[in-house]
Amino acid sequence: MKILNGVMKRTGCKIVLAQKAFSMYTMYPLIGQYLSGTTASGLFEARLGYEEMGKENHIFAPAYREEEMDEIVSICDHIIFNSFSQLEKFKDKVLKAGKKVGLRINPECSTQVGHAIYDPCSPGSRFGVTLENFRPDELDGVSGLHFHTLCEQNSDDLATTLAAVEEKFGPWLSQMEWINFGGGHHITREDYDIPLLESCIKRMQEKYGLEVYLEPGEAVALNAGYLVTTVLDTHKNGMDIAILDTSASCHMPDVLEMPYRPPLLGSGMPGEKPYTYRLGGQTCLTGDVIGDYSFDQPLKSGDRLIFGDMAIYTMVKNTTFNGMPLPAIAIQDKNGDCRIVREFGYQDFKMRLA
Ligand SMILES: Cc1ncc(COP(=O)(O)O)c(C=O)c1O
Repeated sequence: MKILNGVMKRTGCKIVLAQKAFSMYTMYPLIGQYLSGTTASGLFEARLGYEEMGKENHIFAPAYREEEMDEIVSICDHIIFNSFSQLEKFKDKVLKAGKKVGLRINPECSTQVGHAIYDPCSPGSRFGVTLENFRPDELDGVSGLHFHTLCEQNSDDLATTLAAVEEKFGPWLSQMEWINFGGGHHITREDYDIPLLESCIKRMQEKYGLEVYLEPGEAVALNAGYLVTTVLDTHKNGMDIAILDTSASCHMPDVLEMPYRPPLLGSGMPGEKPYTYRLGGQTCLTGDVIGDYSFDQPLKSGDRLIFGDMAIYTMVKNTTFNGMPLPAIAIQDKNGDCRIVREFGYQDFKMRLA
């Protein structure tokens, strides 16, 4: 928090927490002492930020539902749209409430190699308006532009992205009040180049007179949080296998989805230490495997294993990612009537967090 707050103090930019990465709201009062507020991916996260931090509240979603918009407008300060059609549909409502309207742009500048699933600039991406689809004559009421293109990256990639933003959208920057650099800035990582970040921020402030926002998620709780698990059994199938009382698919689904290898305290890469095991979960899914790790001693039932860096993305994927409402469950009777037997709301989201 102090590192992020230092960037805010030295540059005058504002940093808000991207709740999609970390929405453990018992920490919000502490985080709120250092950051300017929260940003949300939908109505539920917006409510959470409003209720639990109560500072500046931003929202971006690829599209909004009509029935959610009144509440979004009442609890959010910046409402960012992904297309000119969404802008046209909801802009008046937002402006009437005295809130800020933003538009997400797509600078089509990929700085991530080989990670198309988390690159919003990959071809065919649904995120942001490209220059080809930009309509300068429909910017009335839009006070800011938003881009989000990075993932776990350093400020050199931000500088490259900003050059693309200026090259493509430069003519309209001076008519804006603010710009949002999105997330993906690994600011709290040891090798992160903070002076370069600050020069990027100052450039936008000085050249275009813009207020600058950043909305990191990971950087707010990087390398925090542990998941403690117990070895239930070991056996062999061409290699040593350990069954844990946790599950990649249930408790750390991001391990399978991204995919990535979570750090495990005291372990090594396969073959690095004398005893290598494949660590798997209790579910029926063959692919419910966390990875292959090596140890100094053979594993045995009852051993405790501690995974690290579990606070960001892992926790939120155990609840409902982005606060996306769960679908209702219904039964269709033989006569064709449909009965909704369970609906899920905001409390179902919030009660799974703490
Ligand atoms: C629009 C937007 N803002 C912020 C973030 C947070 O990114 P990170 O947690 O990588 O900093 C994301 C992540 O997907 C995002 O899509």
